Amino acid sequence: MSTDAQGGAGSAQGATQLFESLHGRAPQGVWASPGRVNLIGEHTDYNEGFVLPLAIRQRCVVAASAADASAGSSVTSAQRPGETIRFTAATVSPGDVDGWAAYVAGVLWALREAGHVVGELDLVVDSTVPLGASLSSSAAIECAVAAAAAGLVGIDLDATQIALLAQRAENDFVGMPCGVMDQMASMHGKPGQLVFIDTRSLAVENVPFDLSGHGLALLVIDTRAPHALVDGEYAARRRDCEQAAQRLGVPALRDITGAGLDDALARLDGPDDETMRKRVRHVVTEDDRVLEVVQVLRSGTDPRAIGPMLNASHASMRDDFEITVPHVDVAVDTALSAGAVGARMTGGGFGGSIIALVEQDAAESIAQAVAGAYAERGWEAPAPFVTRAEQGATRLA
Ligand code: GLA
Repeated sequence: MSTDAQGGAGSAQGATQLFESLHGRAPQGVWASPGRVNLIGEHTDYNEGFVLPLAIRQRCVVAASAADASAGSSVTSAQRPGETIRFTAATVSPGDVDGWAAYVAGVLWALREAGHVVGELDLVVDSTVPLGASLSSSAAIECAVAAAAAGLVGIDLDATQIALLAQRAENDFVGMPCGVMDQMASMHGKPGQLVFIDTRSLAVENVPFDLSGHGLALLVIDTRAPHALVDGEYAARRRDCEQAAQRLGVPALRDITGAGLDDALARLDGPDDETMRKRVRHVVTEDDRVLEVVQVLRSGTDPRAIGPMLNASHASMRDDFEITVPHVDVAVDTALSAGAVGARMTGGGFGGSIIALVEQDAAESIAQAVAGAYAERGWEAPAPFVTRAEQGATRLA
């Protein structure tokens, strides 16, 4: 089993070489920003709650230089060589660029909207974050481009400010109403540390995540489930939550505590409120699970203690938030039967990846058990890899 998903970590050299061959000059700089895995805290970020992701090794590398104002901006992806997308950063607006390049143009638009003068850029992006795997390939490209643009021009933005600009690009240019977790994880990741975020205050704390010291590993399995209706379902869940908060008279579901949950559920007592009750129960119990996991990991006790919380998170996503699909449930159930300490879907849902906390020497056999379960059902083989917490956005050259 590889320790990377699909193709190895992005390197400064690859993006630099492609840049040189396209533009006949060296890039002025190279930046990288990673994808993420969320350990726990799903669909809590847009409810102003808690999340606990980690940056992973798979990342997006961006080689960048200033371009002549008259030439406009260009972006080429190493994953689609031969196709260069051009737009004018000085005037580009939502709707002008679509497809993968919208994440790039959207970031330059968001910088401009925030009053920063970036000018036109030539960009080459090279990403090893698998697409459609719920590992935040979009946050990786957004944050890498934002860090590159800010770094090139010398705009003084901290990691959280860049994350917020990247989120703005995704919300208002790409049109995906995501929360801020992925961009914050990509910007704030640290080797060996989780990124514990209070998404209301945007306070970030790194929490030690030493699995190998305890003989454990974090196995990621990209289920490769066909992703359908993801954005529509995501937006629908977000709407459900916002309506529930309004009905309950709180600014966000974050304001319902575990102790107040029964009371809140009792107040959603209309004949059609069953779905809303389930959504609220997921968010409120998930926030509590994040805090519990943080407590366990901070205390330095055996991380195996978080296993039941991972499992409870999965059950809550499956039964109350209703965002899992058979590929995901089969992967989680099979990993647990094959000996995983805990397992859950990670990310927005309706496919994507699962994570399993496993004994180090069982990672291979658990991945094989899941592959076997998929083969029995005639499903495409899943893509497993072992991950650990890595560095967030950084300048490479
Ligand atoms: C996607 C979004 C995040 C978050 C997760 C679910 O990854 O981009 O903001 O809402 O789904 O936890």
